[in-house]
Amino acid sequence: SLLRPLVAGNWKMNGTGQSLEQLAAIVAGLDALPASIDLLICPPATLIERASRTAHGSRLLIGGQNCHEKSDGAYTGEISAAMLGDCGASHVILGHSERRTLYAETSDLVCAKADAALGKGLVTIICIGETETERRAGEALSIVEQQLAASVPAGARAATVVIAYEPVWAIGTGLTPTAAEVAEVHAHIRALLVARYGSEGQAMRILYGGSVKAANARELLAIDHVDGALIGGASLKASDFLAIASVY
Ligand code: G3H
Repeated sequence: SLLRPLVAGNWKMNGTGQSLEQLAAIVAGLDALPASIDLLICPPATLIERASRTAHGSRLLIGGQNCHEKSDGAYTGEISAAMLGDCGASHVILGHSERRTLYAETSDLVCAKADAALGKGLVTIICIGETETERRAGEALSIVEQQLAASVPAGARAATVVIAYEPVWAIGTGLTPTAAEVAEVHAHIRALLVARYGSEGQAMRILYGGSVKAANARELLAIDHVDGALIGGASLKASDFLAIASVY
């Protein structure tokens, strides 16, 4: 990667107070990793404040997995961008395929959430990616193009917006695209970002996500325009997460 890599973990709906032991183990392992990469863990919302305390004084960043598009109000059960920031989150994942599929989030909604998050100073990681059916139909690039166009705010900047390409069929399945397939999509995303945002698009990081583990990280993270990883399952154990980050 020509850009400063970001290695991000998404704990999804996993973790209680006991999981802070894994977080502490990640913090303890940071010194062995190159200083030239950014590291982020996105625990469930209930752990963000405690995770921030555990990570305090280290270079481990803490983020949320979702936020609401409104700043406050009568939205029972929802969490605003300001609330994430208040708990110590610096980042938020938006438009994850699980949110799009299971909670019917549209790209327009993801874009509204991104605007809300950016307005509160959070770095937003915006997820895009095709389903297995779409890939089989030869639509991977066009789906990614549509999602990118509609999910990423017009004023996106490289310092505050990260794109995550996650082929839906690779998430939690142990399947990954070939290196050539990853390279093709990432190069396409890069071209679209540059066309829309110029030099900011050149500097915007594009993460790969979907069954990243220690065994395949070296090959995936060496691909052009793969500027880091978004890791689900393998981010739950400190040793796995650190092993992936250590390929840099
Ligand atoms: O956000 C993370 C992705 O959904 C990847 O999950 O590494 O368990 O396949 P996974």
